[in-house]
Amino acid sequence: MAAEAAQRPLPAARYVPLAPAAACALLAACTPEQSVLHPASADAAAIARLFWIMLAGAVVIWLLVFGAAIYATLGRSRPQGERAADHVILFGGVVFPTLTLGALLAFGLTLLPDWAAGEAPDLRVHVHAEQYWWRVRYELPGGLPPVEAANEVVLPAGATVDFHLTSPDVIHSFWIPPLGGKMDAIPGRENVLRLRPLREGVYRGVCAEFCGAGHAFMAFRAEVLAPEAFAAWMARQAAPAAGDATAFLAAGCGACHRVRGIVAQGNVGPDLTHIGARASIAGILPNTDAAMRDWLRNPQAVKPDARMPGYAALPAPELEAILAFMRGLK
Ligand code: CUA
Repeated sequence: MAAEAAQRPLPAARYVPLAPAAACALLAACTPEQSVLHPASADAAAIARLFWIMLAGAVVIWLLVFGAAIYATLGRSRPQGERAADHVILFGGVVFPTLTLGALLAFGLTLLPDWAAGEAPDLRVHVHAEQYWWRVRYELPGGLPPVEAANEVVLPAGATVDFHLTSPDVIHSFWIPPLGGKMDAIPGRENVLRLRPLREGVYRGVCAEFCGAGHAFMAFRAEVLAPEAFAAWMARQAAPAAGDATAFLAAGCGACHRVRGIVAQGNVGPDLTHIGARASIAGILPNTDAAMRDWLRNPQAVKPDARMPGYAALPAPELEAILAFMRGLK
């Protein structure tokens, strides 16, 4: 009996052959649109290169340390003299770390952004991190009024873009992993993050600083378009909205939300001028009738602590009229 039990594989050992499949499943979850290892800008490529170099260095050093440990444990060599030990400590503890870290520092310094020349950006985007959404205001050339959107950032490929980041209340952090490093949005000051997106595509940005109950849902979409497509998008965004806003205004939505061409005030919540044409609602829901209805009825169920009040108590015809108006804001 005992011998039979000894031959039976351990329960956990049975799953070892499944490990490669499990690893593949885990790696498949690493989607390129939010991955620093799939860079789509020069800055992100530099960060990715630094990561791979540091990883390779760490693997080599790990092998050296473990090799030394195995040699020391299993080796049958004679004990070394004090002089030899001093040499090992001098080389392994002083010379090698000084050279390696010095080289890493020198390489890291070459990666620092070189905007000291004061080169003007092609596009300035003012980002206000709110609880828990992103107000995105594009500066237009030629004295045109700025265009405001929310929870999505659209950029022209090949352009130098300066993001001016701030926040009215708590600290957030603006991060589009495939496009570059992250930077904090801090109340009372303005930080500038320069990005140069190169590859067209859709990426996912996140808030990278814990800011409250809705933090994990404070995502946004970043899309890089060809310059002509970007100009066309901007022209559509700059146009005023049209539609029957009766129900929207009767419910008081205009107290918080601006809809250019219809409601001029409303600075508390996102600008809704072209919400029907956005890719998402609140940055995380698909832009569908059902998702927008759910959001209007109970925003806190989607984003905990969202400041938008729920309108579940509104009679269905009114709610549907608001929905139809918003869906029509293309
Ligand atoms: Cu905003 Cu975390």
